[in-house]
Amino acid sequence: MTTPIPLELSANGAAHTLAVDPRRSLADVLRRDLGLTGTTVGCETGVCGSCTVLVDGEPVRSCLMLAAQADGTAVETVESLAAGPHPDSELGPLQRSFKEHFALQCGFCTPGFLMLGTALLRKEPDADRARITECAAANLCRCTGYEAIVDAIEAAARPGSPGADAMSGEDA
Ligand code: FES
Ligand code: FES
Repeated sequence: MTTPIPLELSANGAAHTLAVDPRRSLADVLRRDLGLTGTTVGCETGVCGSCTVLVDGEPVRSCLMLAAQADGTAVETVESLAAGPHPDSELGPLQRSFKEHFALQCGFCTPGFLMLGTALLRKEPDADRARITECAAANLCRCTGYEAIVDAIEAAARPGSPGADAMSGEDA
């Protein structure tokens, strides 16, 4: 049996001190040890991006990152986007935009896209549609065809943008 190693990190602003098997992924520790099950795990090979979280503000595939590599970092998961920890807490602006633009169907990919979009809009609040599309291409969605996801991120960035008009049925 592998000897657990100490791990200190902040998750959604809360400090945690843990002892983890050094072989475990960040996604596994977030979900099982910290109860942050909003992060979904699909392929576990770094392809789909459903497990995307922010580590010190950068989007990472948490299935590929060892938890030990997150020592001393600040991790943000999809749970951080709502106004409070309860499932009924008010949705954050990007979550609301996803809801309003029907940017999810099964929803499995949604936490990853929300964190990807959050990182993009923080760094590049003026990102245009082409840049948003390029960013969204990092993750996989089998349901939506991506158009609504790009609409939702664009509308969150710029009310009045083509994305914000998508509800009128206009093709982008
Ligand atoms: Fe991590 Fe697919 S579950 S990239
Ligand atoms: Fe189903 Fe994206 S909404 S995979």
